[in-house]
Amino acid sequence: MTVPAIALNNGTAIPQLGLGTASLDDEQIEPVIVTAVELGYRHFDTAAKYGNEIGVGRGIRASGLPREQLFITTKLDGPYQGDDRAIAGLDACLDRLGLDYVDLLLMHWPLPQRGLFVDTWRTFEKLAESGKARAIGVSNFQPAHLRTLSAQTSVVPAVNQIQLSPQHPRLDHREYDARHGIVTESWSPLGGGGSGLLEDAIIARLARSHGRTPAQIVLRWHVQNGLVAIPRSHAAERLRQNLDVFDFELDEQEMLALARLDGTAGPGVDSDVTGH
Ligand SMILES: NC(=O)c1ccc[n+]([C@@H]2O[C@H](COP(=O)([O-])OP(=O)(O)OC[C@H]3O[C@@H](n4cnc5c(N)ncnc54)[C@H](OP(=O)(O)O)[C@@H]3O)[C@@H](O)[C@H]2O)c1
Repeated sequence: MTVPAIALNNGTAIPQLGLGTASLDDEQIEPVIVTAVELGYRHFDTAAKYGNEIGVGRGIRASGLPREQLFITTKLDGPYQGDDRAIAGLDACLDRLGLDYVDLLLMHWPLPQRGLFVDTWRTFEKLAESGKARAIGVSNFQPAHLRTLSAQTSVVPAVNQIQLSPQHPRLDHREYDARHGIVTESWSPLGGGGSGLLEDAIIARLARSHGRTPAQIVLRWHVQNGLVAIPRSHAAERLRQNLDVFDFELDEQEMLALARLDGTAGPGVDSDVTGH
């Protein structure tokens, strides 16, 4: 299975579908990465906060795939903001991963109440120049945060990774990102488990009519919206089905039907008040 790639504004490209790794520890994630690579995954999303970069790195090495065929994202959260802390922070991530560089480094949360994200972004610009982060981006940034960044810095984030699914389509964020050449990446693309998304009746109907699973219908919605998605699963069969979404299409009426899910799981995460 070959996953299409989406061009980033720094000249590189990101596989449109990757594997999320949150809440799987080092021991759990290592074999999952090996299975995922066998199934065709090339893009893996981790974070300093997840505490599993050692396992992700072990899985990558065990897979035997050349480094240049993989796309690895990590993120630095609040403790690494300000005072060039991200430099030592990324070095520690690379040590744990056993890598010389990451393909994408994200600022995990804006934490606007601390007022450090612009200063942190300047450090990220240095890390991009050093080559230790091929591309730099942000996560959980709202248009207002991106406007602040753009007024005071010169490098446009390559990616904005935000909570996004049919239940939280975040059209305003996507529109801002698209207008500024920022690729939008969906976290909790399946609703994160427990949101009821995969049990929704509209999705069940579409799944039946396409002979697909609810997760495949939802992931196809991300793909057709031009989003990058990083569903997480620890189970081989689900890993396989989550990647197998590039050979069918939802028509306009079906996409409109999915738009009715907007707001069915509450307001979603507000990064003005939430983050770590
Ligand atoms: N930047 C941020 O602030 C942020 C925040 C949250 C998450 N993320 C990233 O986004 C990734 C994905 O988000 P997420 O992990 O919250 O949630 P998700 O990928 O939307 O959903 C994961 C849940 O869906 C289940 N699942 C996966 N495939 C399935 C399938 N085909 N059928 C039925 N159930 C399925 C998984 O269970 P099984 O394992 O049992 O299959 C798990 O419970 C994370 O792992 C992380 O890398 C980033």
